[in-house]
Amino acid sequence: MRLLFLGDVVGRPGRHVIADRLPRLRERWRLDCVVVNGENAAGGFGITEAICDEILQAGADAVTLGNHSFDQREALVFIARQPRLVRPANYPSGTPGRGATVVETRDGARVLVVNVMGRLFMDAMDDPFAAAERELSACPLGEAADAVIVDVHAEATSEKQAFAHFLDGRASLVVGTHTHAPTADHRILPGGTAYLSDAGMCGDYDSVLGMQKDEPLRRFLQKTPGSRLEAAHGEGTLCGLAVETDARGLATLVAPVRFGPHLEETWPRAWD
Ligand SMILES: [Fe+2]
Ligand SMILES: [Fe+2]
Repeated sequence: MRLLFLGDVVGRPGRHVIADRLPRLRERWRLDCVVVNGENAAGGFGITEAICDEILQAGADAVTLGNHSFDQREALVFIARQPRLVRPANYPSGTPGRGATVVETRDGARVLVVNVMGRLFMDAMDDPFAAAERELSACPLGEAADAVIVDVHAEATSEKQAFAHFLDGRASLVVGTHTHAPTADHRILPGGTAYLSDAGMCGDYDSVLGMQKDEPLRRFLQKTPGSRLEAAHGEGTLCGLAVETDARGLATLVAPVRFGPHLEETWPRAWD
């Protein structure tokens, strides 16, 4: 199976690059499943129903979230009627929405998509390891799922790496999100799980984490109240990871994907 994961969509530049490039990539690479992290899609803060629909229409099968899940309050309501929108599974019980979903591909294969949030340098959350364990035992790879994609939305690389080893052999892909900067440690772990510490963002890299530079810089220079953070508005770069899996749902290929300005462009040449 061919899987594509795209990192945090930040504001309009992120949405535009997805709308512009994803439909063609989906076709050209014959992608079976595409997952996009959409936690910053609405001006950098959360997601609206219209924006979620836009990302799904561009070719995503599922949209994952993170610490910004409910920045747009309408997400508290529409998440209940959008089964393809997933928020971290380790929110306290009673939080609207779901922590996992099963996507059916064109060929009838089932892909389990799980989202969890780390606890190091993040808001207090339930145990992400226990939450993932619950979701994966309800829908195990090779039995109820033909592929499993886990988005670990976390700050600390240690936590993401530990998480990947925890799931090695039980997931097709464990991929980090949240830092908005892509890492270069994509690899296949000994048990067959593809891993990348952070997918980076889909957004304008001439920025601070996708936001216009002035206010973040000012906040580092002066400890005084300032203005709101606004998403940058230059051209967006598409950023993520391509994975190919075998009949068992384990990874046989993992390659970074980057299209757009400011970063070196790269893609899986084997898929050309
Ligand atoms: Fe983010
Ligand atoms: Fe985040």
